[in-house]
Amino acid sequence: MKKNQSKYILAIETSCDETAVAIIEDGQKIISNVVASQIESHKRFGGVVPEIASRHHVEQITLVLEEALNQAKMSIDEMDAIAVTEGPGLVGALLVGVNTAKALAFAHQKPLIGVHHIAGHIYANRLEEEFLFPLLALVVSGGHTELVLMREHGQFEVIGETRDDAAGEAYDKVARTMGLPYPGGPEIDRLAQLGSDTLDFPRAWLEEDSFDFSFSGLKSAVINTLHNAKQKGIELKKEEVAASFQASVVEVLVEKTYRAAKQYQVKQVIIAGGVAANTGLRHALKDRFSKETIKLSIPPLRLCTDNAAMIGAAGMIAYQKGIKTDWAMNANPALDLEAYGSR
Ligand code: KG4
Ligand code: ZN
Repeated sequence: MKKNQSKYILAIETSCDETAVAIIEDGQKIISNVVASQIESHKRFGGVVPEIASRHHVEQITLVLEEALNQAKMSIDEMDAIAVTEGPGLVGALLVGVNTAKALAFAHQKPLIGVHHIAGHIYANRLEEEFLFPLLALVVSGGHTELVLMREHGQFEVIGETRDDAAGEAYDKVARTMGLPYPGGPEIDRLAQLGSDTLDFPRAWLEEDSFDFSFSGLKSAVINTLHNAKQKGIELKKEEVAASFQASVVEVLVEKTYRAAKQYQVKQVIIAGGVAANTGLRHALKDRFSKETIKLSIPPLRLCTDNAAMIGAAGMIAYQKGIKTDWAMNANPALDLEAYGSR
């Protein structure tokens, strides 16, 4: 039996290519956090293959679950709720987590909590420190690029989003054209630190007052530059291409985040999602906010990419508000963040 008054959530994340289970105490303390990555299996295809992802999740989920419980030295009966990523993500991948969570919650008579994947990325930051509202989150992942305003826990207002590619998607596509392995983000990041911004790629500012983003023009500009150089037999240095591409992405992300933070007079700015691991972005944000009283929070690298600890952190908010998900919950690849927040 449980020895104290703390609340424990067992959380599951299987939306893309990581099978992850975590146990979180009171929404802010990681008791265990196990992640089985499938990156190696998808590498030779240059991206995530949905069918392969689903199959790996099925193979891994029980092992990862057992490992998370073993590391925590706890049993499912000691949990207060079971949280799981309900969406967005790959439907076949999400289904594995959702059905595991439902089975556990039903068998052990625990509340079931569906969590929005992006709410999870945002709440990864609360595993480090408490939030100050109003808060602005720059969400930059493989599937999302958004500026999210939060006035209170569990509530999300999307004030800007990408009109085409997500930042991570642009990184991965450019990397692929450059012949770099999947996932391309970390590779470009590594090369960018060895080069400088010499190619002057475009910055998509869009309308002056817009907090939306666009990366497809930049992606095409980089790909065209690479093709033209190849046709003319000119050898472009990978480091220069990577540094120039990264400078363009980072400048727009940082500047729009800064402007939005000022306009909405937020107390805290956080970054979330896989691209939050980017060295250039982390440095540029620190620089831009260095003279401001706004608190800037940058999560540790292990909490930037997909994990279940973040799902437990977000799930705790729903638990505290008494929001449960019923047995009819299904994987929802198109789950909307604002709608999720107004449940
Ligand atoms: O959040 P995440 O793990 O999965 C999604 O929810 O999409 O993000 C994965 C994305 C990939 O596109 C990957 O290339 C990118 O994050 N990424 C990076 C870095 N590390 C991961 N992008 C730029 N620089 C990095 N250091
Ligand atoms: Zn993610």
